[in-house]
Amino acid sequence: MKPMRFLNIKPMKGICVGVLLLLAMSAFASGWKKLSEDGIHDPNNPALKLLQNPGEALGVLTPDTSGNEVDWVRALQNNEIQPRSYIKKEADEEILDLDVLIVTAGAVPLVMFPHKAHTEWLDCVNCHEQPFKTKAGETKFTMLEILNGEYCGTCHGAVSFPLTECNRCHSVSREEASEYLQKSKDDDTQ
Ligand code: HEC
Ligand code: HEC
Ligand code: HEC
Repeated sequence: MKPMRFLNIKPMKGICVGVLLLLAMSAFASGWKKLSEDGIHDPNNPALKLLQNPGEALGVLTPDTSGNEVDWVRALQNNEIQPRSYIKKEADEEILDLDVLIVTAGAVPLVMFPHKAHTEWLDCVNCHEQPFKTKAGETKFTMLEILNGEYCGTCHGAVSFPLTECNRCHSVSREEASEYLQKSKDDDTQ
C-alpha cells in the first residue's frame, strides 16, 4: 500500500498542524515524558487516562537521536505509519522524486534537497512559488535566515528535524559535488 500524506496543508491548516506538532515535540523532546509529568497536561484530569503516552506511541517507530526521537522519513518508508492526506477522503497526491543540489557559500558541505522525502508529506503549494521559486538557484537565502525561521527553517527546527542536524542537509562534500557541478555547465564561481 502506498504511504499517504496527512500534511496536505494549506497555509491556515498548516499553522494549526504546526502548532500541534510543536506542542507535541516539546512534550516529547526530553525522552518522552509521561503526559502526567510533561508540564502541559493537567495531571489531575481524569480524562488523561484515555490518552496514549508518547513513549508507548512513538517507541515502536524507527528511532532518531534528535527532535522527538523518531525518524519520520524512515517510519513512513517502512510503512510503520500510514498517514491520511485528508480526514474525510483521500486526495490526489503527487510524489516527486527529484533531488536538487543547493550550492552553499563558504567551506561547508553542499545541501541536497530531496523532493521525495518532502512530497510524501507536503503539497507543492507549501513551498512553490513561496518561499521557493520552481527553478534551482533562483531563490537567494542564507543560513542565518533559516535559523531565523525562514525558508527551510519554516519547518526544520519547528515541525521537522531540528537545525542542529547540520549533516542531514549539508550531506554532499565539495569533492563529491565537483563532478556533478562540472556536468551542469552553469559555471557559478561561488
Ligand atoms: C518542502 C518544500 C518543497 C516542496 C513541498 C516542493 N518543492 Fe520543489 N523545490 C524546493 C526547493 C528548495 C527547490 C530548489 C530551489 C533552489 O535551488 O533555489 C525546488 C525546486 C523545484 C524545481 C526546479 C528544479 C530545477 O532543477 O530547476 C521544480 C521543477 C520543482 N521544485 C517542482 C516541484 C513540484 C512539482 C512539487 C510538488 C510535487 C514540489 N516541487 C514540491 C522545495 C519544495
Ligand atoms: C514546508 C515544510 C518544510 C520545508 C520548507 C522544508 N522541509 Fe525538509 N522536511 C520537511 C518534512 C515534513 C520532512 C520529513 C519529516 C522529518 O524528517 O522531519 C523533511 C525532511 C527533510 C530531509 C530528510 C530527508 C531524509 O531522507 O531523512 C532533508 C535533507 C530536508 N528535509 C532538507 C530540507 C532543506 C534543505 C530545506 C530548504 C531548502 C527544507 N528541507 C525545507 C518539511 C520541510
Ligand atoms: C534544514 C536544512 C539545513 C540544516 C539542518 C542546516 N543547514 Fe546550513 N544551509 C542550508 C541551506 C539550504 C543553505 C544554503 C543557503 C543558500 O546559500 O542558498 C545553507 C547554508 C549554510 C552555510 C553557508 C553560508 C550561509 O550563511 O548561507 C553555512 C556556513 C551553514 N549552512 C552552516 C550550517 C551549520 C553549522 C548547521 C548546523 C548547526 C546547518 N548549516 C544546518 C540548510 C541547512
